[in-house]
Amino acid sequence: MTTKPRTTYDRVAIILHWLMAILLIGMLLLGEDMMEIEKEIGEDHGEGGISLINLHVNIGIAILVLIVLRIVWRIANPPPALPDTVKPWEKKIATITYGLFYVLMIVLPLTGWFALPGFVAKHSEVVGLNLFGFMDFHLAPAVSIKTIILHKLGSTIALALLALHVLAALKHQFIDDTKIFSRMMPH
Ligand code: HEM
Repeated sequence: MTTKPRTTYDRVAIILHWLMAILLIGMLLLGEDMMEIEKEIGEDHGEGGISLINLHVNIGIAILVLIVLRIVWRIANPPPALPDTVKPWEKKIATITYGLFYVLMIVLPLTGWFALPGFVAKHSEVVGLNLFGFMDFHLAPAVSIKTIILHKLGSTIALALLALHVLAALKHQFIDDTKIFSRMMPH
C-alpha cells in the first residue's frame, strides 16, 4: 500500500513553528528594549532592567531546547515539499532561509550565553540570574572573541530574514494564490 505524500505540516511542527515564531519575535523586540534601556540609563539598569535580562536569558534557553527538539522532529517527520506553483529559484531561497533560521536559532542563544559574562561585568547590579526561578544561571567561561558582536549581527540577520519570510508567505498567499498559510495552520 502506498501512502500519499503530505501537503501540510504535521501538528507538532505547526505548534513548534508558531511557538518559536512568538518567542523569536519577542526576543528581537526585547533585545532592542534592552539596548534602549542601556542607552538611556547607562550603567544602571535598575530592577526592571535586571528582570528584562533574566527574561531574555530564560527565553533564549527555551529557544535552544526547543530548536533541538524541532530539528530532531523534522528529521523524523520530513516536511511537505513546496507546491509546484513555487518557482525553482523561490524554492532555493526558501530552503536557504529555513536553513539560516535553524542555524540562527542555535547560534543566537549560544553567542548570547557567551556574551553574558561581559555584560554582567559591565553591570554590577545584575545579580541573581536564575533559570525559570528554579536554579542559579551559570555564566559561560570568558572567551576572548567578541561574541556580543556575533549576537547583534545574528539578530540583525534574523530580522532581515523574518521580513523576507513574511513577505514571501504573503506573496504566495495573495499574489500567486497558493494557499501557503494553510500548510502551516492547525487542521
Ligand atoms: C508572522 C510571522 C511568520 C509567518 C507569517 C510565517 C509563515 C510561515 C509559513 C506559511 C510557512 C510554511 C511555508 C511552507 O509551506 O513551506 C513557514 C515555514 C517556516 N517558518 Fe515561518 N512564519 C513566521 C515567522 C517565523 C519565524 C519568526 C521563524 C523563525 C523562528 C520562522 C521559521 C520558519 C521555518 C524554519 C519554516 C520552515 C519549516 C520547515 O520546513 O522546517 N517563521 N512560515
